[in-house]
Amino acid sequence: MVRSAIVPVAGLGTRLLPATKSQPKEMLPVARKPIVQYVAEELVSSGVHDILFVTGRGKSSIENHFDADPELTSQLAAAKKADLLKEIDFSELQANFFYTRQRVQRGLGDAILCGESFAGEQPFVVALGDSIVGLNGHSRCVERMIDLFESKRAACVVAVEEVPEHEVSHYGIIHPADGDGETFRVQDLVEKPAAAEAPSRLAIAGRYVFAPILFDMIRQVKPDKRGEIQLTNAMKMLCDEGRRVFAVKLRPDEKRYDIGNFPSYYETFVEFALADPEYGAAFRQSLRELLDKA
Ligand code: G1P
Repeated sequence: MVRSAIVPVAGLGTRLLPATKSQPKEMLPVARKPIVQYVAEELVSSGVHDILFVTGRGKSSIENHFDADPELTSQLAAAKKADLLKEIDFSELQANFFYTRQRVQRGLGDAILCGESFAGEQPFVVALGDSIVGLNGHSRCVERMIDLFESKRAACVVAVEEVPEHEVSHYGIIHPADGDGETFRVQDLVEKPAAAEAPSRLAIAGRYVFAPILFDMIRQVKPDKRGEIQLTNAMKMLCDEGRRVFAVKLRPDEKRYDIGNFPSYYETFVEFALADPEYGAAFRQSLRELLDKA
């Protein structure tokens, strides 16, 4: 049973400045909710209830978001706003939240290593805190990944999505060993290759399941030229050792929303706002009018 997840949220969000000057990018709203809430809800819907956020300086609003707020609660109760009370009652989410800090920015691999004691001897999920999978985070890809991890006795299962050639250099890219179905074995991985050198166009999509052996690999990864310990390089070591690494392709209705830069943040916000059950239709109309004027 995989019940725990490590969610790294320590990045500085420099590509989203000045919006992220004093607030974590993972707390930026996408329509009604901050990004990190979609991630937590997605994990719980896949049966993952113990969630460790690996935070950093300036990220305390993430803890505050999931905490109880007695003053706000009593005000809403007095105003008989039952629907809003329900929205902010995260005890209903049935998640246990844990927090630790990555003290120095040493890359994604190092952030995951901060969760070693939390994971213990059990397999665990890694879900990047700046990516939402599926509209409104409605995706069961993590559940499928856990099923594959268990049935194949894997060391790692990674979610992938096909990206256009010009985006290949922004992501970790896998080299599939066989087949082009929904799941397949991975023979190698490379972090942000030049398009001409990429082994495929299948990009690592921010969701992973790992056996605890990963921590030993991370410890052996040499920092890259920016001083960062890359998670992808630890996964490459798993492949090189002949361990069982598999990929699960995201389905067409499991689009990945990567909120690491302004163009994709804008697109994501608009798409989620258009799907809002209360205001979506009116927003669609005003957007049309805006576009007609442009
Ligand atoms: C990280 C990973 C990369 C992955 C990407 C997904 O990169 O290193 O392998 O494809 O997340 O968003 P980052 O976006 O932190 O540069």
